[in-house]
Amino acid sequence: MRTSFVLPALVALLSSSASSSPLAPRDAVKSVEARWEECKITPKVFIISMFPPEAEVWWGIPEFDLLAKNVTVHGFSPLFQEAHCTADGEICQLITGESEINAAVTISSLVASSKFDLKSTYFMVAGIAGVNPKVATLGSVTFARYAVQVALQYEFDIRDIPDNFTTGYVPQGSTVPDEYPQSIYGTEVFEVNADLRSLAVGFASAAKLNDSADAVAYRANYLSTPYYAAGAAAPSVVECDVATSDVYYSGTLLSEAMENYTTLVTNGSGIYCSTAQEDNATLEALLRGAVSGLVDFARIIVMRTASDMDRPYAGEAATTNLFWAEQGGFEPAIQNIYLAGVKVVEGIIGGWEGKFAKGVNATNYIGDIFGTLGGAPDFGPGSEFNDNPVKRSLKARGMGKRGAAMLKSGRQ
Ligand SMILES: *[C@@H]1O[C@H](CO)[C@@H](O)[C@H](O)[C@H]1NC(C)=O
Ligand SMILES: *[C@@H]1O[C@H](CO)[C@@H](O)[C@H](O)[C@H]1NC(C)=O
Ligand SMILES: *[C@@H]1O[C@H](CO)[C@@H](O)[C@H](O)[C@H]1NC(C)=O
Ligand SMILES: *[C@@H]1O[C@H](CO)[C@@H](O)[C@H](O)[C@H]1NC(C)=O
Ligand SMILES: *[C@@H]1O[C@H](CO)[C@@H](O)[C@H](O)[C@H]1NC(C)=O
Ligand SMILES: *[C@@H]1O[C@H](CO)[C@@H](O)[C@H](O)[C@H]1NC(C)=O
Ligand SMILES: *[C@@H]1O[C@H](CO)[C@@H](O)[C@H](O)[C@H]1NC(C)=O
Repeated sequence: MRTSFVLPALVALLSSSASSSPLAPRDAVKSVEARWEECKITPKVFIISMFPPEAEVWWGIPEFDLLAKNVTVHGFSPLFQEAHCTADGEICQLITGESEINAAVTISSLVASSKFDLKSTYFMVAGIAGVNPKVATLGSVTFARYAVQVALQYEFDIRDIPDNFTTGYVPQGSTVPDEYPQSIYGTEVFEVNADLRSLAVGFASAAKLNDSADAVAYRANYLSTPYYAAGAAAPSVVECDVATSDVYYSGTLLSEAMENYTTLVTNGSGIYCSTAQEDNATLEALLRGAVSGLVDFARIIVMRTASDMDRPYAGEAATTNLFWAEQGGFEPAIQNIYLAGVKVVEGIIGGWEGKFAKGVNATNYIGDIFGTLGGAPDFGPGSEFNDNPVKRSLKARGMGKRGAAMLKSGRQ
């Protein structure tokens, strides 16, 4: 807290003594600001954990000591008020607290903090998640290109729906489950740097993944269903996408409904595989930071390791899968955050001078569904900003496509 008072005090002092200084007052102020910039922590990698088990697996490891320097950040969760950094500040970590609201507020607070310079920082979301047995399995390490806010939809109880609906979820602004959403809020889909993802997958693939006897046994139950072959196989590193929902949905039908929604809003490109409660919120906060030039949206990695199946095996009740079964995935998923994640961190730090300092250019579209950072999204109805990046002085947009869609939806 003290630090926020130091800079104005120094500026006042230097300005008032300017006559005895060889520097003109403006230059004096500038040089204080420049020196203040130098005092900031400038991480090369920032690890984003969501709750203590995901964070603690990084503590007491031989590679680096994240508890060497603790930094209080205003706006962090009351439960997790500090960022943790190595002594040189090159690698840091925070805990967002769980679900979308905690993630959005914590990451926004980090981006706004004067204690960090994040312009060249690589962010790595490193958490556990549910997993779609059609794509991956317990203990798998997944790296996403798309993050989809799947529960941002209308919802009816299944007992109230027409006979020809396959689910109670209907995209907002639409009137049937498989119609593209007509009312877009902007956080529905995020796309991160696929070239960076390939590099991260390469690093993570060097890890020897952890597993458990319970997970081996539980996976075997999925073998009888041909399209769950990935769920029955051993864990591996997989490129597939993450769904975000505050509601912790579970079971075959809801999971399939979210899978269908992911396909719909990514125009068929997204591969629904991991389910969590934060990533769209984290990405929205980083996106807003990118608009202000505070972070580089091309430097984001979303890694989720699989702790539990999102749906039961054939013949098992959905509630048994979620509440009672010994799936055995939690411990390996936590271990694999570290085992795979540390390879990514070391890869970035080790390749800093030759490669990562200057950045990894994305050859895919990166950003949100509005096209806020410029470029044309390869999903969604098209850029709201005619492919131009949003500048800080946003001019009024009047009744665009989105306004019209909102009117149609009858909300807001
Ligand atoms: C940082 O915080 C952690 C726990 O939150 C603590 O174990 C550690 O000792 C702290 N480090 C320092 C340098 O105070
Ligand atoms: C279901 O029936 C309604 C009319 O009763 C129709 O408007 C709708 O297109 C049908 N199909 C689906 C998938 O909802
Ligand atoms: C979550 O973020 C992804 C990636 O930007 C985006 O595609 C998706 O629509 C978002 N989902 C929601 C519900 O906001
Ligand atoms: C997984 O990690 C646990 C906890 O560190 C360890 O006891 C176990 O031997 C590991 N298993 C494998 C297969 O690596
Ligand atoms: C998902 O989409 C497929 C193909 O359109 C459809 O057969 C299935 O019923 C949908 N599932 C749900 C739960 O809506
Ligand atoms: C990345 O793209 C920028 C702008 O298009 C270009 O100037 C730069 O040389 C590229 N960097 C690499 C490593 O390809
Ligand atoms: C995505 O699908 C929607 C609905 O079919 C369509 O309106 C939109 O143009 C598509 N976007 C892209 C980038 O293909």
